[in-house]
Amino acid sequence: MYPRAERRFIRTNRITIIVLFLVIAAGGIVRSTGSGMGCPDWPKCFNRVIPPTDITQLPEGYEQQYIDGRAKKNQRFAKIVEFFGYPDMADKIRHDESILEHESFNAAKTWTEYINRLVGVAAGFALLFSAVFSFTYLKTKPSIVGWSVLNVFVVVVQAWLGSIVVSTNLMPWIITVHMLLALLIVGISIYTFYLATTSRNKSILSGQSVGPLKWLAILALTLTVVQVVFGTEVRETIDHLNDQGVERADWVAQLGQPYFIHRVLAYTSLGLSILLFFLVKNKFSSLTLQSKYAWIVIVLVGIQMMSGIILARFNVPAFAQTTHLVVASLFFGAQYYLMLLMTKLKR
Ligand code: HEM
Repeated sequence: MYPRAERRFIRTNRITIIVLFLVIAAGGIVRSTGSGMGCPDWPKCFNRVIPPTDITQLPEGYEQQYIDGRAKKNQRFAKIVEFFGYPDMADKIRHDESILEHESFNAAKTWTEYINRLVGVAAGFALLFSAVFSFTYLKTKPSIVGWSVLNVFVVVVQAWLGSIVVSTNLMPWIITVHMLLALLIVGISIYTFYLATTSRNKSILSGQSVGPLKWLAILALTLTVVQVVFGTEVRETIDHLNDQGVERADWVAQLGQPYFIHRVLAYTSLGLSILLFFLVKNKFSSLTLQSKYAWIVIVLVGIQMMSGIILARFNVPAFAQTTHLVVASLFFGAQYYLMLLMTKLKR
């Protein structure tokens, strides 16, 4: 049904989406194992393409060398933050001593962060190939080219932001922006996939009006994005409690308002997903993609709720942290694709 060049684009685009979720999974493992500072520099790790496995491989006084490098980078970043109208934040970046704190060498953490970077590089190449192959649509569907090329630029910004995450010693709000940008990149890739597949296979979309369903899907998706922001805020509070030496068993009790809002939004999101599921099942036959994705969304929200409850009841175990982060992004991706599938076929 699709010409060869289009098939190649669709295949590459599909692989790109899978690799992007792997990057998010790797990022989640880095966060839950506290390996974010495993490599004190960027893009190389301890100034090497392949990082060391033992502290004896590092030169004497290496700590100060990396602290100086990060300090210089932060001065440049503070200027950018100031330029965008946030002088207080710029001041904090310039003067907060904790930003330059050094973490002692730990081979496991270094290699966890290093593998995370390798998966990131693979995602960069996958996006680049997608952009190159998208040129087959230059005449028939130029928006696919536009979005695919834009995504390469967004991933470059994301990589730069990744370097800032390191140089500011994992400053909380930057991690939130990093997470939202990751969802944006996934979203653009899903969108180009949707445009490419529906450009020839019209049977994917429904001929009837799906108006209110589409609005409900948009509402559910918006709620998920807000929920992710509150989730990262809860996570930042946990990181802060950890830094202050609070016992793991006492974390959840001290989480405060963002955690309360996070739970309220979670149950709202669950309710909306269930409502959407029944409405989609009512409108579309069970063999359609819409029905399939309504199922996927309901399963993912179920796993997400369960991993959230495990986090809350069992003192935030690391495996549940990673699951919670990865499933949140899969949930976002499935909801977004379902929302796109709610588009009425244009005749
Ligand atoms: C639709 C449902 C939900 C979504 C989309 C969601 C999403 C998220 C996200 C994106 C994070 C940040 C993870 C990170 O930055 O590493 C997070 C953290 C968290 N969420 Fe949820 N969440 C949901 C439901 C719940 C529920 C029901 C609970 C508890 C009853 C919960 C408890 C937590 C806790 C304790 C954290 C901090 C975990 C950590 O330190 O890694 N979440 N959530």
